[in-house]
Amino acid sequence: MKDKTKIAVLVSGGGTNLQALIDAEKSGILQNGTIALVVADKEEAYALTRAERAGIPTKVLVKKSFESRAAFEAALVAALDEAGIELIVLAGFMCILSESFTSRYPKRILNVHPSLIPSFCGEGFFGLRVHEAALAYGVKVTGATVHYVNEVADGGEIILQKAVAIEEGDTPEILQKRVMEEAEWILLPRAAELVSRRLREEN
Ligand code: GAR
Repeated sequence: MKDKTKIAVLVSGGGTNLQALIDAEKSGILQNGTIALVVADKEEAYALTRAERAGIPTKVLVKKSFESRAAFEAALVAALDEAGIELIVLAGFMCILSESFTSRYPKRILNVHPSLIPSFCGEGFFGLRVHEAALAYGVKVTGATVHYVNEVADGGEIILQKAVAIEEGDTPEILQKRVMEEAEWILLPRAAELVSRRLREEN
């Protein structure tokens, strides 16, 4: 059989979803893929510390320091190619990627989103804002979605979803933590394993 699918995880912040993937590889939940690179778009992303602690190579690409989005994405592609990456996981990565980037990797980019798509998703819905919107609307159930990434923001095919109840007295912060614990940290490693296995078998 071919080697494990080489995964790059793209991050912008705390990296708790990256940590869930690292832990899943250690425990064997993620067995057909291996995290070979972590790319951050911010120098100060704590996710970089998590990657370094796990011995995973890191790369920082700050979008603003490039003259255009195309130049930023070209540098990203070069880093991914150099590391032989076959699967890209967006784990709290706060840049929207262009069609010219996403079309290079059909069904090879995953994203975790903290709501039940198609609710509370698309441009402008990220991080705590998603939970603020869910609470403001008054929904009783929210959740998380892992989906393939295509040219439409949060519009690619859904791979896994899990519902999470909203409780009396929830704040955006409390809800965010519950959605992570009960859904994101479980779904993302599972989806990464499903797709890693498919790619390993296909190649
Ligand atoms: C997660 O809740 C993730 O679902 C969300 O950002 C958070 C990152 O946390 N992503 C989006 O909102 C994408 N639209 P983390 O850095 O601790 O994994």
